[in-house]
Amino acid sequence: MKDNIILIGFMGSGKTSVGIRLSYRLKRTIIDTDKWIERRQGMSVSEIFDAHGEKAFRDMETECLKELLRTVDGQIISVGGGLPMREENHGLLKKLGRVFYLSAAPETIYERVKSDTTRPLLQVADPMERIRTLLKQRAPVYEACADVILEVSDKTFDEILDQIEGEMKGKNI
Ligand code: S3P
Repeated sequence: MKDNIILIGFMGSGKTSVGIRLSYRLKRTIIDTDKWIERRQGMSVSEIFDAHGEKAFRDMETECLKELLRTVDGQIISVGGGLPMREENHGLLKKLGRVFYLSAAPETIYERVKSDTTRPLLQVADPMERIRTLLKQRAPVYEACADVILEVSDKTFDEILDQIEGEMKGKNI
């Protein structure tokens, strides 16, 4: 197993914000699977969904993990919210490092994403309803995939970083 820190969780759970802060604290580079794919394709995630469909994007996510497994170690990897839903990706995530699930309440997620237009799955008439439905399907999968589950809704960034750092040092704080 490699020594990367993997952040999984629903859209708006704070993977990117936590990842960037963690990156400064631990002096590790952060890699974001969405950004990696966007750079590789020369298109935004929304453009990929429009031009090629969701299945093609999911294939790109699996390809991304395989390539990271060949090329990356000791870093932080923030993973798109839907990526853990593909069974094949679980084994790849486990091989890549220690998996942290940032678990957030639907209300917290909604507040963070309500005016965002870059997430195609939330461009619907009732995003709150969509968040609740998707989260119900996804939470058990995130939990099964995670080595560590962190409830993040009521925590400060420092508290979340302390917990991740503590887990990485083999302590529970
Ligand atoms: C998705 C989450 C997004 C992005 C795409 C699909 C999902 O990533 O991969 O819009 O299925 O939950 P973030 O979780 O970084 O927003």
